Amino acid sequence: MVKLKKEKLKILFTKQQVHNRVKILAKKINSDYKKEKADSLVVISVLKGAFMFTADLIREIELPVQLEFVKISSYGSQKYSSGKIDAPILLLPNLNGKDVLIVEDIVDSGRTISFLKEYIGAQFKSRSLKVACLLNKEARREVEVSADYVGFDVEDHFLIGYGLDSAEEYRHLPYLAICG
Ligand code: IMP
Ligand code: MG
Repeated sequence: MVKLKKEKLKILFTKQQVHNRVKILAKKINSDYKKEKADSLVVISVLKGAFMFTADLIREIELPVQLEFVKISSYGSQKYSSGKIDAPILLLPNLNGKDVLIVEDIVDSGRTISFLKEYIGAQFKSRSLKVACLLNKEARREVEVSADYVGFDVEDHFLIGYGLDSAEEYRHLPYLAICG
């Protein structure tokens, strides 16, 4: 039994719904990269929020996967984007010639993904560079950017669970819920 704190949580997607959707995304990713004749994939997971999504997604990938992590955020402990990118850990291997898939929990203002795509594009000549996000909060977009693979399009709610936090809480929950 999970003990939760005072904030009200309303389940938006159950564990089963998330699981089903991740499987569908992986199927599409497998088929696309096979069509594009990729021989392997470098998955760049954006910590901390994408850790659970990444772990489930890569277990369904049918190509050799090299897994990398970056720690980057535009949020801090607030429930809205600070407008500034904080990227304390951005150590990446050589991505020249690689098929690169950035895996993110949620695209909100779009700053994190836009920063990461530009950063990788400026440093390397990858064979391809795509984005998979579990959640897409289009209503909050401030920077024009879109993901190639989207789990769920969501309304402008603050969501927690399945890797996503509110001030570092709730990341361990197996479902996605609206918080507050
Ligand atoms: P962006 O740079 O504004 O697109 O924000 C992306 C980051 O903000 C995500 O990787 C999340 O860590 C965080 N974030 C955005 N919306 C939410 C939310 O509803 N719940 C939890 N974290 C969020
Ligand atoms: Mg994140």
